[in-house]
Amino acid sequence: MTSQAQDDTSEPTLDPTLDAVGRRLPDFPEPAPLTSHGPARIIAMCNQKGGVGKTTTTINLGASLAEYGRRVLIVDFDPQGAASVGLGVNPHELDQTIYNLLMERDADIHATIVPTRISGLHVLPANIDLSAAEVQLVGEVARESVLSRVLRPVTDDYDVILVDCQPSLGLLTVNALTAAHGVLIPLECEFFALRGVALLVETIEKIRDRLNPRLEVDGIIATMYDNRTLHSREVVARVFEAFNETLMHTVIGRTVKFPDSSVAAEPITTYAPTHAGATAYRQLARELVFRGDAA
Ligand SMILES: Nc1ncnc2c1ncn2[C@@H]1O[C@H](COP(=O)(O)OP(=O)(O)OP(=O)(O)O)[C@@H](O)[C@H]1O
Ligand SMILES: [Mg+2]
Repeated sequence: MTSQAQDDTSEPTLDPTLDAVGRRLPDFPEPAPLTSHGPARIIAMCNQKGGVGKTTTTINLGASLAEYGRRVLIVDFDPQGAASVGLGVNPHELDQTIYNLLMERDADIHATIVPTRISGLHVLPANIDLSAAEVQLVGEVARESVLSRVLRPVTDDYDVILVDCQPSLGLLTVNALTAAHGVLIPLECEFFALRGVALLVETIEKIRDRLNPRLEVDGIIATMYDNRTLHSREVVARVFEAFNETLMHTVIGRTVKFPDSSVAAEPITTYAPTHAGATAYRQLARELVFRGDAA
């Protein structure tokens, strides 16, 4: 296989009017410009499985929504700081990150948010300090709703807040789910993709019952899809069988342009604006607005 063949730039399905599971693909309209902003809908990007495309989806969905004139805040909620780095922010040089907001009541969120090179897209950065928060929060009163409190002063400034979770169902992720209105679940198109999703759904249901009655699953996004393999098609078919319309129409193809754009520390929408990967995330943004899950 040539490297060009591996870097698949073709459309996810052969018939452009159908999606990867054969549903009629709606023509998601370009979102109407907003005349006023906020309050934000908070969406947690969540899957306890590592490397499924949470951070890539957070960055590129966020950048696409910003292109459509939405004010977007990306909350880096992973001590690895990948969302911060991927947006050109070096979180290891910062003395104030989300960790300080979680742990110090008088820390100022406005002074912690960093603008990115993309107009309308801001990031609340994280670095390795955040790994201590999981343990330190255990003794706090209302330890599950600390992120919710932290975000409150800025929710009116944004249309969408995307929280990039770490690959775990620990206290930080519980905080993200408690703060959120919706959850997006990226699933890598590979054989064990569905393993663990039942546990994730169970966790979401528990949090809805006990901590956050408004929480809903906004959608499952198939990522790293390769339409030339029967395998990818079978995985999405099984996801559709299990979750029906929760599976979003938009699938994200597998392409090296994503790791390339991470190295360049920018979204694919600016790194390779006409690439199929950029087109896919713009479509995902339009689909989300079309479904009413974003302004
Ligand atoms: N559609 C794609 N095609 C090819 N590579 C991709 C795609 N999406 C993401 N990747 C690459 O796969 C790796 C994992 O992606 P990403 O960091 O977004 O996953 P994650 O779920 O956030 O991982 P973690 O659980 O470690 O936080 C990265 O190197 C990323 O560049
Ligand atoms: Mg990540």
